Amino acid sequence: MGVAILERMSSQVIRPARSFQGSLVLPGDKSISHRYAMLAGLAQGLTRLSNFSTGADPHSSLACMAALGATVEDKGTHIEVTGVGGEFRQPAAPLDCGNSGSTMRMLSGLIASHTHTFTLIGDHSLTLRPMERIRKPLAAMGADISLTDGHAPIMIRGGELTAIDFETPIPSAQVKTAVLFAGLQAKGTTSLSEAVRTRDHSEHALRAFGAVLTRSESRLSIAGGQMLKAIEATVPGDMSSAAFFLCAALLFPDSNLILDSLGMNPTRSALLDVVAALGAKIRVLNVEETHGELVGTIQVNAAPSAAPSTPLKIDGALTAQLIDELPVLAAIAPYTRGGISIRDAKELRVKESDRIALVAKNLAAMGATFTEYEDGLDVPGGQMLHGAVIDSGTDHRIAMAFSIAALRATSECEIDGAEVAGISFPEFYKHLSDLTGS
Ligand code: S3P
Repeated sequence: MGVAILERMSSQVIRPARSFQGSLVLPGDKSISHRYAMLAGLAQGLTRLSNFSTGADPHSSLACMAALGATVEDKGTHIEVTGVGGEFRQPAAPLDCGNSGSTMRMLSGLIASHTHTFTLIGDHSLTLRPMERIRKPLAAMGADISLTDGHAPIMIRGGELTAIDFETPIPSAQVKTAVLFAGLQAKGTTSLSEAVRTRDHSEHALRAFGAVLTRSESRLSIAGGQMLKAIEATVPGDMSSAAFFLCAALLFPDSNLILDSLGMNPTRSALLDVVAALGAKIRVLNVEETHGELVGTIQVNAAPSAAPSTPLKIDGALTAQLIDELPVLAAIAPYTRGGISIRDAKELRVKESDRIALVAKNLAAMGATFTEYEDGLDVPGGQMLHGAVIDSGTDHRIAMAFSIAALRATSECEIDGAEVAGISFPEFYKHLSDLTGS
């Protein structure tokens, strides 16, 4: 599906807007959808998932589950997955992860203990992304896993795994998840600690499917040999998709945005604090918990008088927590009062594209002043930008980030390869048009 989207590239014109108002429910969170899809595929019984992500990436995970023997049915209102009850079958063809790093990395951990031969492939962008980070811990658990010059295709000859004690060398929820998913099926108790705490959806999802995970101080432990049980769940709205509209709301003095059923997991909602710090008023109208995940309704209004005149600094642990939101923050930074300074974000260079380089290229095309660093950007505020042709670099978050920057430009922008937004958020342009009244 991801590949099909990339083959049908089109451009989209975004005109400057006058207001930003409306309310919506975001499609299901991409990270949670991947995890529910994979655990449902492995579990015993029939899992029903409502508000599953509409993005192509989580559908790559579902397709891989089907290839591994699960039954996946789209019922319109929800997705049904009948799991394999702990035993994947030998897939008839390579497992196609499309554009999805999450699918490739987490799935490697999920399947490594199954005694079949697996090949994991992906599109051009995915084939450029580093995979040594998952090969190393899985090999330490005894997996027979080989890469192609550090990248996909990945070959796994599955077999029994043994528990390890693991310290994650880079902040990565995907790597943590690969180890937890492998640990769930290994001999012994796997334990893991993270120097920087990353999104904890895997921990919540594993518990929701009935696994026992313990945490003592910063160490997580999971015993092997646990059987998962199917669940019924509604996936909370995706905060990283909401990020585009939260940032847009900052740019219009009379903005009013209401987001309902939004995932507000504390490891994902640092953006709310950042947007507030940049000059927005955010009201949480209600919040509840489902399967360990917080879900709520928020109202956002711009409060320009509260905007700071000095640059907002994003570095260290905050950078890791905001990793998917940094492109849109950088893209709107010129319009903020004091600007934004981003550091410790070298990981952005190995996402679906080199996101630092592409943000820099597109800011330059719109006439912005900024400084690019190996691990970030300094973008001064108080700037006027003009329209330009934006290079999405076939990266969904770049296409959407600069669609938001385009709303405040002095002339229209053309987003080249705009359809790539479908990787995570196919409804993006429709919502953008409704919210700007265009
Ligand atoms: C994700 C983790 C992050 C993030 C990605 C989704 C996840 O990647 O950028 O979009 O669902 O665990 P890393 O784990 O590589 O930081």
